[in-house]
Amino acid sequence: MEVLLGGLKRLEYRGYDSAGIAVIGPDGTLDMRKKAGKLQMLVDDLDASPVTNGSTGIGHTRWATHGGPTDENAHPHLSDGGRLALIHNGIIENFSELKEELLLEGTVFASETDSEVAAHLVARAYRETGDLAEALRVVVKRLEGAFTLLVVHADQPGVVVGARRNSPLVIGLGDGENFLGSDVAAFIEFTHRAMAIGQDQLVTITPDAVAVVDFDGNPVEATEFEVTWDAAAAEKGGWSSFMAKEISEEPEAVAKTLLGRAVDGAVHLDDLDPIRERLLTVNRIIIIACGTAAYAGILGKYAIEQWSRLPVEVELAHEFRYRDPVLDDHTLVVSISQSGETMDTLMAVKYAREQGAQVLSICNTQGATIPRESDAVIYTHAGPEVAVASTKAFVAQGTALFLLGLHLATLRGTLSSEAIADLVDDLKAIPEKIERVLETGDRIKTLAGWMADTRSVLFLGRHVGYPIALEGALKLKELAYIHAEGFAAGELKHGPIALIEPGQIVFVIVPSPRDPRSLHPKVVSNIQEIRARGARVIAIAEEGDAAVLPFADEVLHIPLASPLFEPLLAVVPLHIFGMELAAAKGLDVDQPRNLAKSVTVE
Ligand code: AGP
Repeated sequence: MEVLLGGLKRLEYRGYDSAGIAVIGPDGTLDMRKKAGKLQMLVDDLDASPVTNGSTGIGHTRWATHGGPTDENAHPHLSDGGRLALIHNGIIENFSELKEELLLEGTVFASETDSEVAAHLVARAYRETGDLAEALRVVVKRLEGAFTLLVVHADQPGVVVGARRNSPLVIGLGDGENFLGSDVAAFIEFTHRAMAIGQDQLVTITPDAVAVVDFDGNPVEATEFEVTWDAAAAEKGGWSSFMAKEISEEPEAVAKTLLGRAVDGAVHLDDLDPIRERLLTVNRIIIIACGTAAYAGILGKYAIEQWSRLPVEVELAHEFRYRDPVLDDHTLVVSISQSGETMDTLMAVKYAREQGAQVLSICNTQGATIPRESDAVIYTHAGPEVAVASTKAFVAQGTALFLLGLHLATLRGTLSSEAIADLVDDLKAIPEKIERVLETGDRIKTLAGWMADTRSVLFLGRHVGYPIALEGALKLKELAYIHAEGFAAGELKHGPIALIEPGQIVFVIVPSPRDPRSLHPKVVSNIQEIRARGARVIAIAEEGDAAVLPFADEVLHIPLASPLFEPLLAVVPLHIFGMELAAAKGLDVDQPRNLAKSVTVE
């Protein structure tokens, strides 16, 4: 029981509106408990009346899709007279017709979920085959949609069978024990040895063996990898929240993503070896992602286009897939995903490959599904990001995109080696500069305290400051539950300025006064325009930028850096502000309402 609850605790960020476990006891009984609400509700219930102690079990935290977050709809789901238990991540798209088939046979359902349909189907197949793995294999061939399924049966203590399609599942290889989990955080406390399970594959684990087959029953050679995280890294480490811990790790996230890739003034991306030849014929890039990852994509667009002279479009993955995009084998699709499990992004990646495009993924989670569905992957080494609001992953994603842009400029000869060396040196100085921004945290906390009652905040940015405005707004929406919107500063006069009224709080990301595009005076004018209408302006500006001082109510200074890299510094105060405003409002910083860390449904 403790092993299951410990694993669920580390996975709780993936979705948390109900949780449950099932354990097979030494006497061959199966004991199941599940509760709506946060994991602690289940823990308290089990403290009061523990389940049987056994060494075979499954556990699940749920983010509701079919059926509300109730005890009955929580997983595991039982069948075969309570002797079989099943848990499920994903959505079974053809569950209605399968449920109809079972109802006609007299099956009684205890929940309104698609997952319970799978439990009864496996129980029926088990009664026919007498073998749990074969029963699950027979069933998964009938399922459509996305699923990770785990199943145990009281007849087979010591056996857990799992299967995956378009949903995460990894194996933990222990000594006299083995584990399955949605990601390595589930078993990191017990082993660093892991195995990836591929699409449409089924795994059977016992304490001493692991067997993987495809959905036709053919044996598959799964690849083992070493997990570089440790259990402590997935815990708070003394910080008040995972988000506070992860913001403090932003310098390290950049530094580790650069490690071994920015050496002697040049960029070395061996990660791209699998597509090296194809990169030479690429004539356009489409970046696909969701949420914060998409904003990192916009930041990368400016740099990649400027350095490599390749056209770059950035699209929301869920829009890209359905607009019938024009793709060919000269298109490089770059997906960005911290979790590597975002269903919208995964399905867009699969679509792009089906259309003949090369797919490169930027991902922070080893062994995740999206990298396995890509032609090449650049892993960001930000470490586990547990807080639902993405922070360190964002700066790591921006760093990876800058590396990609410099690599492409090197391949295409569109930047001199001296220019590249200068940019590489500037990039390597970013971690230390983020550390300096973090030192202003207390001042930002005070600012947030003053604004705890605010109902609306606007964010303005221009050029590479624009995605930072979008990111700052998203953080307030998802953390402090208030209306927030990010605008391109040049767009203000085309409508949004009508929103400005006395007392309206506006953050302005001010471009470097050294920027040759002379965007700086334009943005200072924007500040004057909104101040004239009563706005309260908080400017994020370069140290030494005196021009902005007379026009802003507050100025948060950031160290000088190459203009394209300054967003990695400007975003940090906005991450801190979002967290502190949520904390000032007494909200749950790590697990905001209605959200999940990884949205593994479309
Ligand atoms: C960011 O703070 C949000 N939690 C959300 O927008 C997130 O960035 C988005 O769901 C994409 O997640 P991914 O990077 O894991 O694909």
